[in-house]
Amino acid sequence: MEKKVAIITGASSGIGEALAYQFGKEGFRLLITGTNEKRINAVSNNLNKYNIDHKTLIHDVSIENDNKKMVDFAIKSFGRIDVLICNAGISIRSLFENVDIKIFKKLFNINFFGAIYGTKFSLPYLEKTKGTIIAMSSLNGFIATPTRSAYVASKHAMQGFYDSLRLELLNKEINVMVISPGYVRSNFRLNTLKSDGKKEGPSSRDSKKMMDPEFLAKKIFIGYSKKKRNMIFTFRGKLAHLIKNWFPRLSDKLAYKEILNEKESLLKNN
Ligand SMILES: NC(=O)c1ccc[n+]([C@@H]2O[C@H](COP(=O)([O-])OP(=O)(O)OC[C@H]3O[C@@H](n4cnc5c(N)ncnc54)[C@H](OP(=O)(O)O)[C@@H]3O)[C@@H](O)[C@H]2O)c1
Repeated sequence: MEKKVAIITGASSGIGEALAYQFGKEGFRLLITGTNEKRINAVSNNLNKYNIDHKTLIHDVSIENDNKKMVDFAIKSFGRIDVLICNAGISIRSLFENVDIKIFKKLFNINFFGAIYGTKFSLPYLEKTKGTIIAMSSLNGFIATPTRSAYVASKHAMQGFYDSLRLELLNKEINVMVISPGYVRSNFRLNTLKSDGKKEGPSSRDSKKMMDPEFLAKKIFIGYSKKKRNMIFTFRGKLAHLIKNWFPRLSDKLAYKEILNEKESLLKNN
């Protein structure tokens, strides 16, 4: 039987990298993408050590045509697409009143349109394989936190878009999964932007308490095999979802407190 093919955006680091090893070890051929050539090559070297058949692509998900090139390259290289993982993403930490709208749009173009473009171009091929779209959202896809409005909005938009698309694709048997992790150990916080678009650098948040990306990748693969639609992890994540739906005022208070208690919280002087 022909081996299945997965495209993973943002596979040069963190969750996307862990997903590349997980899907590769499960027998998938891969197209992995990112903007950082050095890091994509490092992941590629690791995949070679496991004899995982793969291609790499340096591109920017926020550019529509880069996503067309990505899908064309996957088809040219492998002839099929079974799984599209829209994982690339960044965050901004800023009060909305201070954020440069250009930076706000930049985030939306990466997190939201960067997923939508790839999805659009992959659909005809996913229809042939009755494939799966895996959208990397966040607990912020349904719970708002202050000082992250652009990020929260982009992840809420993803959740809404993919929930709608899932319904449109029911008869085509394409499964749509939305993944909503809490804190995961990765370069995410290091790459978070400030209101002026510069990177934040190291965060004081304790990464030891965060989920391991390899553990998350395993869980996502199991979810994929079971054709799950939404995945929320850990007791804390599931409780947060429940509180948000049934006790929204309490949810607001908890979310506010969580951010206020950050060592470098932007709420302190607000
Ligand atoms: N870490 C968490 O706590 C957490 C929690 C919930 C959800 N998530 C979501 O998980 C996803 C992956 O984040 P992560 O934690 O693995 O962070 P990460 O280590 O910073 O990885 C982000 C990935 O996105 C890629 N990327 C960023 N901008 C891109 C662009 N314009 N074009 C193409 N690729 C781009 C990066 O590639 P380059 O470095 O090569 O540019 C990198 O591979 C994101 O969507 C994030 O919102 C993360």
